[in-house]
Amino acid sequence: MEFNHKPVLLNECIEGLKIKPDGIYVDGTLGGAGHSEEILKKLSNKGILIGIDRDEEALNAAKKRLSKYNNVKYIHGNHDEIDKLLFQIGIEKVDGILLDLGVSSYQLDEKNRGFSYIRKC
Ligand SMILES: C[S@@+](CC[C@H](N)C(=O)[O-])C[C@H]1O[C@@H](n2cnc3c(N)ncnc32)[C@H](O)[C@@H]1O
Repeated sequence: MEFNHKPVLLNECIEGLKIKPDGIYVDGTLGGAGHSEEILKKLSNKGILIGIDRDEEALNAAKKRLSKYNNVKYIHGNHDEIDKLLFQIGIEKVDGILLDLGVSSYQLDEKNRGFSYIRKC
């Protein structure tokens, strides 16, 4: 199944981040990378996006979608530990953080994940 998730409040999130082209931004719920891709479009190649997700399948889907960008750092982890995770990759401060809390459509729709309301495992 495709990781096909429509980013929520996309324009509002991007406006709210007030993205500086050379800034450092964290997407703590990377998912299918819909929000992240829009952040990356506004960053220069000096800017950095850090994408965190605790679901490895989501991270893999995001890596595929964002493969043309080389200013992304991917972290498999829990955003609750964001300070530790950023410290581990040498980042001391950031310009903005996005958290799109919850699960993605893919996680709900894919029956083998066990979250689907309409498909049986
Ligand atoms: C609503 S989706 C994000 C969708 C994403 N914004 C997009 O545009 O495709 C939420 C994502 O957050 C991840 N997630 C949930 N809790 C998390 C946590 N505590 N730490 C890291 N990722 C988490 C889920 O695995 C899921 O991929």
